[in-house]
Amino acid sequence: MIRLVQTNTLARGAAPKVIVPVVQRAFLSGTAFRGDDAITPPVDTIGAQVAVLTGGDRGLANNIAEALCDVHLKALVIFDVLKEPGDDSVAKLSSQVGIPVVFRQVDVRDQASVQEAVNATIKQFRLIDVLVAAGRIADSNLPAETYDVAMFRRLLDINLTGTFICSQAVGAAMITARTGGSMIFITWIRGHVVNWPQQQSCYNASKAGVIRLGKSLAAEWAHHNIRVKSISPGYMDIALNRVRALDAQNLLWKERTPMGAVDELNNLVVFLSSDASTYMIGTDIIIDSGYTAW
Ligand SMILES: NC(=O)c1ccc[n+]([C@@H]2O[C@H](COP(=O)([O-])OP(=O)(O)OC[C@H]3O[C@@H](n4cnc5c(N)ncnc54)[C@H](O)[C@@H]3O)[C@@H](O)[C@H]2O)c1
Repeated sequence: MIRLVQTNTLARGAAPKVIVPVVQRAFLSGTAFRGDDAITPPVDTIGAQVAVLTGGDRGLANNIAEALCDVHLKALVIFDVLKEPGDDSVAKLSSQVGIPVVFRQVDVRDQASVQEAVNATIKQFRLIDVLVAAGRIADSNLPAETYDVAMFRRLLDINLTGTFICSQAVGAAMITARTGGSMIFITWIRGHVVNWPQQQSCYNASKAGVIRLGKSLAAEWAHHNIRVKSISPGYMDIALNRVRALDAQNLLWKERTPMGAVDELNNLVVFLSSDASTYMIGTDIIIDSGYTAW
């Protein structure tokens, strides 16, 4: 039986709660799915893995951080440009979980500092098994005809090049260690469709680029047993989307579909991080309450 867990139970101090019994089959913990005699591992314990999460200071990625800690990682390392709330987030998480949670102040555009943070993580924990890349910026409601090209370049540099720089440093370490691993890029349905009525040509292009980057790296690295995937969520009910300036747009988004709660991505990230998803390589998963379906 594969079990998905009710993640983000940490804040309430409760043990992870099983909510979705999906497949009835024999399994032994920690054994990967391979071949006819396959034995599927339980997803609620991804085991002694070290995960790096970019952009984990706040928002969705911070929820994902809690979820990953819920499933008994060996260690979680957050790379984010903001020292505040980075230090606070890590202190809060550390007080709730029994594993090391480390914060490293990193600008994902800065190749040298990303490499330094990856080296330090390997020195401390020996390996990196999982990379979740969620760090981003978003320019909102900027008409294309007057979009400042310097802003356009900056956004691409953080969202697309930054994702590449992080995956290159972690991928090279995985290849050297011959351990393989899992990479999950958090993108957006805007990589597939234009999120109307926002005028966000650059943000949309950056997310489409990240989806294609994921597929390209997956093709290059599959034989190293590095499984690159991406997740394209729809609108999520985070604080940044609850501002007055977005009231009119919020109505339109909600008319099409309800907005996802902040923890709606957690089980999917846990699944894609685990050996239960070893057959999933180069795929992009849309998780949007049907927004792109009609
Ligand atoms: N919020 C939504 O409705 C929504 C919907 C679909 C997908 N997403 C995606 O989910 C992910 C998380 O979104 P969120 O809304 O929680 O974002 P957020 O803006 O709340 O957090 C982004 C994080 O990235 C960090 N960051 C920004 N620039 C950085 C840099 N140069 N180097 C390192 N870190 C940097 C920020 O400090 C922040 O902690 C993003 O990739 C986003 O595109 C969000």
